[in-house]
Amino acid sequence: MTAGQGPARRRIRVNPIAGTIGAEIEGLDLSTPPGDEVFAIVHRALLDHLVIFLTGLAPLEPSQLTAFAALFGDIDREPFVHPFRTPPVEGHPEVFSIIKEASHRSFNIGGFWHTDVTYRERPHLCSVIYARETPAFGGDTMFANQYLAWETLNDAMKNRLDGMRAIHSSAMPHGGQGPRFAAVARHHAPDEADHLMEAGDLEVTTVEAVETSHPVVRRHPETGRKALYVNRGFTSRFEGMTESESLPLLEDLWNHAVRPEFTCRYRWSNHVVGVWDNRVVQHYAVNDYFGQRRHMQRVSVHEPSRPV
Ligand code: SIN
Repeated sequence: MTAGQGPARRRIRVNPIAGTIGAEIEGLDLSTPPGDEVFAIVHRALLDHLVIFLTGLAPLEPSQLTAFAALFGDIDREPFVHPFRTPPVEGHPEVFSIIKEASHRSFNIGGFWHTDVTYRERPHLCSVIYARETPAFGGDTMFANQYLAWETLNDAMKNRLDGMRAIHSSAMPHGGQGPRFAAVARHHAPDEADHLMEAGDLEVTTVEAVETSHPVVRRHPETGRKALYVNRGFTSRFEGMTESESLPLLEDLWNHAVRPEFTCRYRWSNHVVGVWDNRVVQHYAVNDYFGQRRHMQRVSVHEPSRPV
């Protein structure tokens, strides 16, 4: 699809990559932040497709990545991912590196279904990720459409969930090491995080867990559509219920939320920039590229207000 009629619109193409989520955009230049007309196309594509991948770009410096991300809103300048601390790019505390070396035989960052930092009162509106160095194969990221997760529930379940709230915790009671290790064969993903900690790439922090409550069903502030808002990574329980009372229904919702029909799977190449709308998307970085290096850089943008 070629977007619109103006000169920028003639140059820019938005091409869906799956039936329900995800589009590539070609014809952009991020060496300087795009102007209003071009950004309007990018923003519209994000609202329509939920995750977008900007292709055909020249290599980007961290400052160029940040300048582009700032068009979406207020940049998160404390890139701190509980319970892990990832190294910021030198001189750019807002850009954090997601690096897995060829020699690393452990889990990866984001290798489980999650919505970013939902333990915060104002989670991220979106994240902008730059693929600096990608494996020859593997290392894809999957994304799932949470509008559809809500819309495809039956009426009885919708009535039950509407108005409920859930607690989200940085302690990741259901999204920690267990799910990460379970997803891969033993010989591929051995022992613990110690290896990465030794390498200085990943530090398990000892800060106290942060918890917050959000609606189980939220309304997207820009589209007005409702979306399911519980994720395996950070949601711990329903408000007013214990973890074990909550778990059977949470498990059903988590499984439903990532039905293959609601997802896309993106195969990165170097210098692609991805942007996901964290208000309505879950994502999963697939840890299947052992023996190869993968290096991404990520900048995130705060939601301006709490989810409702
Ligand atoms: C993440 O932000 O969860 C990881 C994304 C990726 O490395 O593809």
